[in-house]
Amino acid sequence: MSEWASHLEHRWFAVALAAKIGRKPVRAMLLNRPIVLARLDGQRVVGFQDRCPHRHAPLSQGSVIDGTLQCPYHGWRFDAQGQLQALPGAPPETCLPGVRARAVSVIEYDGVIWARYAEEGDTDIPARVRALAPDHRKFLWQTTWHAHMVDALENVLDPLHTHFVHAGLVRRKGARQAMHVSLCADAEGFVVDYAGQSVQSGLLYRLFESPRERERASFSAPGTAQLHYHYRNGSRACISLHFSPETAHRSRLIGVLHLEGRRVPAWMVRAFLWPFIRKVAQQDRRMLAMQTDNSRLFADRKDVITRFDVVRRHLLSAWSNAEDAAAAPADSDTVLML
Ligand code: FES
Ligand SMILES: [Fe+2]
Repeated sequence: MSEWASHLEHRWFAVALAAKIGRKPVRAMLLNRPIVLARLDGQRVVGFQDRCPHRHAPLSQGSVIDGTLQCPYHGWRFDAQGQLQALPGAPPETCLPGVRARAVSVIEYDGVIWARYAEEGDTDIPARVRALAPDHRKFLWQTTWHAHMVDALENVLDPLHTHFVHAGLVRRKGARQAMHVSLCADAEGFVVDYAGQSVQSGLLYRLFESPRERERASFSAPGTAQLHYHYRNGSRACISLHFSPETAHRSRLIGVLHLEGRRVPAWMVRAFLWPFIRKVAQQDRRMLAMQTDNSRLFADRKDVITRFDVVRRHLLSAWSNAEDAAAAPADSDTVLML
């Protein structure tokens, strides 16, 4: 049995920042295999499995020549469809063998490159991602976490670690208040609504936010977690965290902060808000690395899942193989002291 559920081959994953893909080919890892991304015509991004069909040299080490991707080993050249177009050393007028580099489907949207291995599968990236208008102010970043996808996704959707891992920054330990938490499954994954706290106790809130009208977290399978904040003054913020599995123990994270109705200049966000967001992300990254290394020391990894671990079962169900998939957990309502 493969390490990954077979349905994942048919799903879209965010694998790179669009701004990083130019004429020089770039390698990205997805589901333990490398893919190569490049703009052969200077515009549209194309993707292939990152191996030449001849002797499996990495195409990402090659170059873009006249709208084709050239392998670094013997110089075979492939067009945007992956079709072999040139075989250096063959006499002129030679009929080339019908060889192809294996294509990977690619979508570019709002600064992010999404890839899907199978020719057929999900027709589009999640609707909750499309719903964020590309013209809203946005900030992007990428990093990798030493963590399995389920652990990484759970981390960003779990509020109970924030008093410890981000003590003072996101929440203060001595300032817990009751919050009503309700999870509702939907066609894409689930949404979790938080009610009862318009003001958060941490420094981040006090420096950069104003009273909230609505706070919601969402999961869109397979890899997108989002935190949505609607403020009483009409503005909105959404942090999208798109994870993709490079290997079982390493997940790529592409983060996007969308701001709507906020008049702060971009340089101010970068200069003042950004260091705090980076700090929070580093704290999570460090904890996840410890969790991953530690859990790998034990052959039997059986988690305790309580009703306060609101999202864990849903994420496990989304990431399991069809044969051992548990029935989708029920919607839930609970109170958490946050
Ligand atoms: S390995 Fe690519 S051309 Fe030979
Ligand atoms: Fe966190």
